Amino acid sequence: MGVAIRGTGSALPEKILTNFDLEKMVDTSDEWIRQRTGMSERHIGQKETVPSLASAACRRALEKAGKKAEEVELIIVATCTTEMLLPCAACRVQNILGAKDAIAFDINAACGGFLFALNTAHHYIESGACNNALVVGSEVLSEIIDWTDRGTCVLFGDGSGAVYVEKTEEGDGSGIIGMSQGSNGMAGKMLYCRGRVVKGETEPEINSEDLLVHMNGGEVFKFAVRQVPICIRKALDMAGLQPEDIDMYLLHQANSRIIESIAKTLKQDIKKFPMNMEKTGNTSSASIPILLDELNREGKIQKGQKLMLSGFGAGMTFGACALIW
Ligand code: UT7
Repeated sequence: MGVAIRGTGSALPEKILTNFDLEKMVDTSDEWIRQRTGMSERHIGQKETVPSLASAACRRALEKAGKKAEEVELIIVATCTTEMLLPCAACRVQNILGAKDAIAFDINAACGGFLFALNTAHHYIESGACNNALVVGSEVLSEIIDWTDRGTCVLFGDGSGAVYVEKTEEGDGSGIIGMSQGSNGMAGKMLYCRGRVVKGETEPEINSEDLLVHMNGGEVFKFAVRQVPICIRKALDMAGLQPEDIDMYLLHQANSRIIESIAKTLKQDIKKFPMNMEKTGNTSSASIPILLDELNREGKIQKGQKLMLSGFGAGMTFGACALIW
């Protein structure tokens, strides 16, 4: 028995913020942002919330899989930006979808969250606790970004990506074949946010600057280029594969230079590393499932191909998943 992805979906807010818009907000330039990050524009939530984007992505994933919300047994939302502490985003998604029989909960492993959620769903299904799951990454990062800090505000975007996974039958040939994940809380200060102010509810006595993302970009960069290849190799080992056996590497869309460096470390052609951060920015836990959905809808993934998904984020956290499509 295995676990395979049967449907993908994604949702992006309507509003687009370009590098040229950012030039008017902070001391930056389109050229700097494109050269240093690979990004040109990103989507920014207005009325959209973590659960509204997540449920839109889930509906599309269910549609693609030919499933109904009532059939869903587990919903895991990976997020670090949900605007309500209680109830969790996954329960709100359950309510929006009408997935009345699902177990629903959130996971916060920041940008690494989708891999943590996928791994958890994999274990639930493998253990027999349930037969299927919606695994979602959903973020409205724009609400916790310091829009006066050029070192962070040019990087992030909002959005959601979802996959519908289910138990496979004997001899199916598709599914997850290797997973690896880890955390390094000792490096937590590289990227943190103490709390958040909910839109329209800023109290004058709150030091709102402290309730925003703080990041040592250079340290995060070094962490990612060192840790992600190690994590990928562990997932490859578990799957009994070599880097060259993988047809496509779908990595967290944090920075094109990080991905280029990882490709070089793994001695793999950069053509195997599709990227979409040019149009989406870094959407944290949503970036990998958004990219996966884009490729899937464009017919760029063939049955039987081997994929490697891998991400990293605040915590620090990191994860990888090898699968056969
Ligand atoms: O999901 C995980 C989240 N985070 C990440 O993945 C972040 C990983 N890190 C990065 O992507 C890169 O470190 C950044 C894109 C954040 C920064 O790029 P960098 O090449 O590491 O630049 P830097 O921080 O070393 O800064 C180089 C220069 C500095 O100026 P000086 O001191 O050399 O005069 C910065 O002040 O670039 C300046 N700079 C900018 N200039 C124009 C920093 N941000 C900007 C900006 N526009 N937006």
